Amino acid sequence: MLELPLPPEDLRVRVGPFSDAPLFERSGNDMVAEIVQLCDLQPDAVVLEVGCGCGRLARALARYLRPQGNYDGFDVHEPMIAWCQNNLQPHLSNFRFMHVDVYSPDQNPAGYIKASKFSFPYPDCTFDSLIVSSVFTHMFPEEIERYVSELARVLKPGGRGFLTAFLFDEAGHAAVTSGATIFDFRYPIGPCLTFDREHPEQGVACQRDWLLELLDRHGLEVKLVRNGTWRSVRSYKVSQDYITATKRGETFHPPPTILATTFAV
Ligand SMILES: C[S@@+](CC[C@H](N)C(=O)[O-])C[C@H]1O[C@@H](n2cnc3c(N)ncnc32)[C@H](O)[C@@H]1O
Repeated sequence: MLELPLPPEDLRVRVGPFSDAPLFERSGNDMVAEIVQLCDLQPDAVVLEVGCGCGRLARALARYLRPQGNYDGFDVHEPMIAWCQNNLQPHLSNFRFMHVDVYSPDQNPAGYIKASKFSFPYPDCTFDSLIVSSVFTHMFPEEIERYVSELARVLKPGGRGFLTAFLFDEAGHAAVTSGATIFDFRYPIGPCLTFDREHPEQGVACQRDWLLELLDRHGLEVKLVRNGTWRSVRSYKVSQDYITATKRGETFHPPPTILATTFAV
């Protein structure tokens, strides 16, 4: 099995409750196994991960993707991307990690591009698969809207997206009211809610209908919504909700003029 370096603890704990290195590794492997199954991810897929952090999923994908597959990951936190570039990229010729200087109050306070105006640095219809794990849980409505439109732009027709979020619904509301969840989403921010009025980016839930309609409006047809355990488990070891979506439209076929030229030669 491909042995890849593990990020140091100070980076692991930036992406979750992962001071325990084996847990970091296991959680990445488990999530990638679920993505493969839920999104029919192929070993030769061209994959984009938005908010890739310190490579929790990239390390697991490296064992699954073949050399014909490709992985691009970007993040706003420069030290995590530098770690991936220095420690993972040299072992993985088909993996690229990019720092984007997008403002994030927590992870990139000096960033000069607003997330709500950011254009992903990739051409239209580039990727077969998109992964956005635990990123919308730290973003605000206008930013999420922009990212969804960019996700739709860079995904190939027929391509699949895997996203995680806290989808705020009746059960979420009941969990907050009864104290069944540690995520006390009681402060609204437009169609989202946070549990931390001072530092709202620490945890953001999206109204379920708003996020699902937003995806649909951008041509991302929601295929599956699977509730995580955050509504009922009083621990940080909880799972978020999973959403998978497919971009509407035909998969790409060369236009007839190109075919005619090809046959004429
Ligand atoms: C909870 S961590 C999850 C990291 C990774 N997706 C994973 O599942 O291991 C959230 C990540 O989102 C990144 N992030 C926050 N705002 C972002 C933005 N506007 N664009 C891209 N990444 C962002 C953070 O820097 C951080 O790495």
